[in-house]
Amino acid sequence: MIRASVVVGILTSVVVAILVAVVLVDASDPAEPISADTPAVEPLAIPPLLEPTIENGVSHYGLTIGTSQHVYKQIRITDTYSYNGMSVLGPTLRLRTGDSVVISVTNELDETTTTHWHGADVPAEDDGGPHSTIAPGTTWVADFDVIQPAATLWYHPHAHGSTAEHVYRGAAGLIIIEDDNAAVTTLPATYGVDDIPVIIQDRDFTQDGQLDFAIDDGEEGNLYSTLTVNGTIDPYVEVPEGLVRLRLLNGSQARIYRLSVEDASMTKIASDGGYLVGPVVLEQLVLAPGDRAEIIVDVGMESAALVDSVFGRVLELRPSGSASGTGILPDKLATIEPISESEITVDRSFHMGDVRNFWEFDASWAINGVQFDMSRIDVSVQIGDTERWTLSSDDGQHVFHPHQIQFQILAINGEPPPPEESGWEDSVLVNADREVVIAARFNSYAAEDIPYMFHCHILDHEDLGMMGQFLIVE
Ligand code: C2O
Ligand code: CU
Ligand code: CU
Repeated sequence: MIRASVVVGILTSVVVAILVAVVLVDASDPAEPISADTPAVEPLAIPPLLEPTIENGVSHYGLTIGTSQHVYKQIRITDTYSYNGMSVLGPTLRLRTGDSVVISVTNELDETTTTHWHGADVPAEDDGGPHSTIAPGTTWVADFDVIQPAATLWYHPHAHGSTAEHVYRGAAGLIIIEDDNAAVTTLPATYGVDDIPVIIQDRDFTQDGQLDFAIDDGEEGNLYSTLTVNGTIDPYVEVPEGLVRLRLLNGSQARIYRLSVEDASMTKIASDGGYLVGPVVLEQLVLAPGDRAEIIVDVGMESAALVDSVFGRVLELRPSGSASGTGILPDKLATIEPISESEITVDRSFHMGDVRNFWEFDASWAINGVQFDMSRIDVSVQIGDTERWTLSSDDGQHVFHPHQIQFQILAINGEPPPPEESGWEDSVLVNADREVVIAARFNSYAAEDIPYMFHCHILDHEDLGMMGQFLIVE
């Protein structure tokens, strides 16, 4: 027997669900895609490089997170979060393999936050996850050696329950690691000239020009209708003719981009964790939240454009007419020692799914049936082990991201990955039609009581509990 109140509850739920669905469809798609045929008007903002002070061979960087204001749309002034007083986003940190760095992060917001180095191979206490809270008015110091190869990483807040909002309001920045890899010295590498940071984020604005933020507990997370690149809407960047490197970061809350290049070729040279073995020419690049990719575009005498399948033009690459770039694309970029079956000592499975109680619209996303609990350790890994993790999903689309490690993809639906997904990764798309097997060597740092996170990088899902903790122990 079903009680009348339950029936009313169900009917109300259905009506609410339909209304929510209608509103979402309207809100999440851009009015119309931007055509690449007319020139873009706004110059791309390039986040400045943060200069360190060097004391006794240690590079000291200072970041301060606070509120700011940014002009996204002409005339309107939008309240934002940022680092170091920028109107939005934060400066780019450029580090070198072998560097010893100290980064102090001061919180001038009136709420607690953290700052996490996404993709970085650092000790747990320096990782900036939800345990490393920075109370308002205080400073947290991360202190580590750069022990990983050249890569494009990023930093962003990671306080549990407010990660999506803090990132959405504008707190995020790039980290570029360089190294002595002689194979890549002919690639374009002049920051802001032929080596361009491209932080892609979608946003919605209220009538009075303020950022419109919401968490969506649905399968896709919250999608917004205006695209921004480094905080600029529909930008162009002037570049020399010849090879141009774009360091792409999907810093969005939930949106997955399908990117291509019009009027030039697109060659992927690096994934999340660094250079691929060799360049891979691509028609389309899928960039999920948290993902990075470095691509080379060979710009000719006419503008080329980075284009998304939904938004149209993302960025116009406009030849400046200045002397052509000096870059040359080598055949071989890096050596990656494949993780072999015989190295693997432990197997684990991570199933991403929905544990929602549908009658009450309860929260929702979980890994292996459990939601995030800061006091529970989900996995303990022995330092020195190589593990194989099988990632699967029922509902929705997810981006599995473990902290600390860069992994290799062994299989996607039982098949070896394509060349563009055969490098080092720290974030990977998983859904009901895409089961992914990854492997990683856990050989950097152990800590008895400070865990690293693994979670979905669709930030709505993460904040709603799709996160767990692993320890690396002696
Ligand atoms: Cu991009 Cu747990 O982080
Ligand atoms: Cu991370
Ligand atoms: Cu998810």
